[in-house]
Amino acid sequence: MPRDTKARLFVAIDPPAQAREQLAAWARAALGRRRGEGAGANRPLRLLDSELLHLTLCFLGARPIEEIDAVTAAIEECAVGVGEVSIGAPLWLPPRRPRVLAVEVHDPTGGLTRLHDSLIAALAVAVGWTPADGGGSSGGRRRRFRPHITLVRMREGAAGRMGVDRRELPPTPALAFTPGELVLYRSWLAPDGASYEALARATLVPG
Ligand code: 2AM
Repeated sequence: MPRDTKARLFVAIDPPAQAREQLAAWARAALGRRRGEGAGANRPLRLLDSELLHLTLCFLGARPIEEIDAVTAAIEECAVGVGEVSIGAPLWLPPRRPRVLAVEVHDPTGGLTRLHDSLIAALAVAVGWTPADGGGSSGGRRRRFRPHITLVRMREGAAGRMGVDRRELPPTPALAFTPGELVLYRSWLAPDGASYEALARATLVPG
């Protein structure tokens, strides 16, 4: 087997384990599933295991393996604390033909957006990355950063076919947490869903 020359990378925040478990339980309840029923390559709706839940700040896409050290250094440079964030309403993304069910993350201080913006600037200098390289932009325009945590992935149109009523989701759990670190993840794609390998962590230092 040839050695991989590229890695699919993204930078994220891991919510605390208890928050992840509550969010996964909410998603199970929202879709009327029991524990352990979420996985499987052929399911139109795939509930993510609690340990996979994260808040993505930047999706870099496939990058040369030799860039990983420079990406790590850029992440460390940006690691300023963002204060407390909280879980908001359910969010279907993209709204018209959803492929994921997520929950909004409220960022009252704007710290997450500042972190997102400083990561983009630092990654541009470090490795020449721009959001368009990760598929995060359309027609050269950068999409507005909308902090969220994805809980369910689905095939296009599955929400409608499965009779998931987009208005009748239960209220999301009242949760707040203070992000503690940035994580550089490598995503490994597989037919039954991606798995994520943490390559580096940077503690968020109060600003
Ligand atoms: P999502 O949670 O909104 O689906 C790993 O794939 C992470 O990178 C996911 O959390 C995903 O966001 C995010 N991401 C952003 N843009 C992506 C893209 N073009 N392809 C795959 N993942 C993307």
